[in-house]
Amino acid sequence: MKADVGSMTWRTGDDIGVSEYMLLTVEEGKRLIDCLEQEHELSIAEMAALIDANCPELRDYARIKARAIGDRQYGKNIYIRGLIEFTNYCKNDCYYCGIRCSNTKADRYRLSKEDIMACCREGKKLGFRTFVLQGGEDPYYTDDHIVDLIRQIRTDYPDCAITLSIGERERESYERFWKAGADRYLLRHETAAESHYQKLHPHNSSLKHRKQCLWNLKEIGYQTGCGFMVGSPGQTPEHLAEDFQFIRELQPEMVGIGPFIPHSDTPFAKEAQGSMELTLYLLSLLRIQQPDLLLPATTALTTIHPRGRELGIEAGANVVMPNLSPVGVRDKYALYDGKVCTGDEAAECRNCLERRVESVGYRIVVSRGDHCDVKLMES
Ligand code: 5AD
Ligand code: FES
Repeated sequence: MKADVGSMTWRTGDDIGVSEYMLLTVEEGKRLIDCLEQEHELSIAEMAALIDANCPELRDYARIKARAIGDRQYGKNIYIRGLIEFTNYCKNDCYYCGIRCSNTKADRYRLSKEDIMACCREGKKLGFRTFVLQGGEDPYYTDDHIVDLIRQIRTDYPDCAITLSIGERERESYERFWKAGADRYLLRHETAAESHYQKLHPHNSSLKHRKQCLWNLKEIGYQTGCGFMVGSPGQTPEHLAEDFQFIRELQPEMVGIGPFIPHSDTPFAKEAQGSMELTLYLLSLLRIQQPDLLLPATTALTTIHPRGRELGIEAGANVVMPNLSPVGVRDKYALYDGKVCTGDEAAECRNCLERRVESVGYRIVVSRGDHCDVKLMES
């Protein structure tokens, strides 16, 4: 699909051998944003040009549109999820990640079932109605283990949603977790571009398999979340345009994005951090492309800017996921350096969040915070 951007011609990899995108004027950028709002679709070349044109005027233009669209869809509600990081063992070796298996300096931990249930108990008291079980890919937690955990949470907290974020597993495993009562699954695709995926991961990791996992999750019926880092090493506007295209195809219920932040004990220790401004711009463009998305203002965004959560909400986000893990292990789940909220009491974090969200005119709601289509089905 081509936008009507006057006399400009789009040159893509096909006709000149190497990829190149048009430099846009602000007016041309605005017209592409209008087009994204109307059609929910831009070509890869158009999206890459729009992303490359990131500047204060276009960010403002996108942010104002995104916020109006978000308010129409979800009102002033901000949904909260209690994040329980239950293991930092991981069999994978992603070059960017602090808990990769080659990092011998990581201080490894696993939470017991009792620890996890204590987190849920605390979380329920604080008003959380979604628990996110997140961990590295840790074979210690077999499918039986995970099913047992889901059943226990389902029994003790029938009014709460259960979200899993435990990486790539077989379709049969996802089906078992679903039958046991899990509602949602988060699995960031990390980058939709094959060459870029290879730069970020060792050879035994496969983008094709990761994408297949996401399709399986969708098919089974999970509210599914994908996502990517912003400014990961080697990322170009074209890679990001491919992420937008993949998201348009998958139509996930959630998309998690946050800036890449280097971790000192990884191969990417010396790489530059992702930009907050670009992350905010992309949050707005995601909201415009897919208005019904559940979009978190991520911890990584808060880590690189003290008002990251608020700015994320103003850019179009409508979910926050504070940490519910026991205080003693929080600093050990270190995917990147400088992670915030690792020392706080969970309750402190919750109150602080309430104030922050209200400071920008929104309110935290005590509800499961399902995707809008799920609510329609129930009512
Ligand atoms: N910086 C930012 N985000 C990171 N993640 C992993 N390592 C980093 C890092 N260094 C993200 C990945 C992963 C999610 C759990 O955290 O996108 O999917
Ligand atoms: Fe892959 Fe941590 S080792 S995200």
